[in-house]
Amino acid sequence: MKLVGGRFNIWEDLPRPFFILAPMDDVTDTVFRQVIGRCAPPDLYFTEFVNADGLQSPGRKNLLKKLQFTDKEQPLIAQLWGKVPENYAKTARELVDMGFAGIDINMGCPVKAVLKNGCCCALIDNRELAAAIIAATQRGVAGKLPVSVKTRLGIREIDLSWHEFLLNQNLDALIIHGRTARNMSDVPADWQTIAKIRELRDKIAPHTKIIGNGDVLTRAQGLALSAEHELDGVMVGRGVFQDPFVFAEQSPWPDYTKEQKVALYRRHVELFAATWKDNQRNINTLNKFCKIYISGFDGAKELREQLMQAKSAEALLKILAS
Ligand SMILES: Cc1cc2nc3c(=O)[nH]c(=O)nc-3n(C[C@H](O)[C@H](O)[C@H](O)COP(=O)(O)O)c2cc1C
Repeated sequence: MKLVGGRFNIWEDLPRPFFILAPMDDVTDTVFRQVIGRCAPPDLYFTEFVNADGLQSPGRKNLLKKLQFTDKEQPLIAQLWGKVPENYAKTARELVDMGFAGIDINMGCPVKAVLKNGCCCALIDNRELAAAIIAATQRGVAGKLPVSVKTRLGIREIDLSWHEFLLNQNLDALIIHGRTARNMSDVPADWQTIAKIRELRDKIAPHTKIIGNGDVLTRAQGLALSAEHELDGVMVGRGVFQDPFVFAEQSPWPDYTKEQKVALYRRHVELFAATWKDNQRNINTLNKFCKIYISGFDGAKELREQLMQAKSAEALLKILAS
């Protein structure tokens, strides 16, 4: 990593434009990141969001699994959410020693329960607390790791004063999901507004990297969008559900046979079983992935129905071997 202004900064070291695997709760754990990494690795990984207040509470042990990683998923940024600045500072200090390449703060999750609690997207309307959270995280890393924010375009409406505010917080990167909280995922991502935020960045904070996010399904599409809007990078979330090789220059997925797809799911299940012992993660979380691999061939629906009934990794592997 490069030393920038006296500190290491992974954001400076990535190729341009770079591709990031998006944080997805209960999806992008160490197991899935390893599966994607073996198919076609992104330039940068994120953890699922982890609650900083929970990490500094007796519930900590249960949350640490979200921070678990291997040296195959590198570089990796830890994403935090929560409400209490001091808990961000304490957690940031701990993350420095755990081997992460940076810390990202979630100011974009639109889930109602989270909003009601004043976290994530709700911070758009509470700039005093947002500034305190960013400052506490920056204090916690003490210049040893970069700090970024992932956010949306606004709560109810597009609100560029929010991005102007963020660009004045000395962030290393700003990741923009091109929708408002009210939009949830119901309308297409608005890349024109992401481009306006990049223009703001050029004026206010040229050192802050701008990453666009929303609806990118292929590498070619990501390259075109980043070139058109002059972005530093692109983040891809649900695109990996349609193509686990989405980060490859030439994806082999369209030609994948049934046998190859089943073998890939088998690898996922085996890794899951080896990683999450003693029900650390519910076996049902695997059902989310079933459709990725078990689709696009004759009998896929029937096989999926069978697999969804399985109550253990052993049972899943038995069906996949038959
Ligand atoms: C199942 C799921 C879980 C998600 N969890 C997170 C999360 O933990 N942190 C976060 O910042 N965004 C989360 N997101 C939002 C994604 O990171 C991304 O911003 C969004 O899906 C839009 O990008 P896409 O169109 O490429 O999927 C989640 C999205 C999905 C579908």
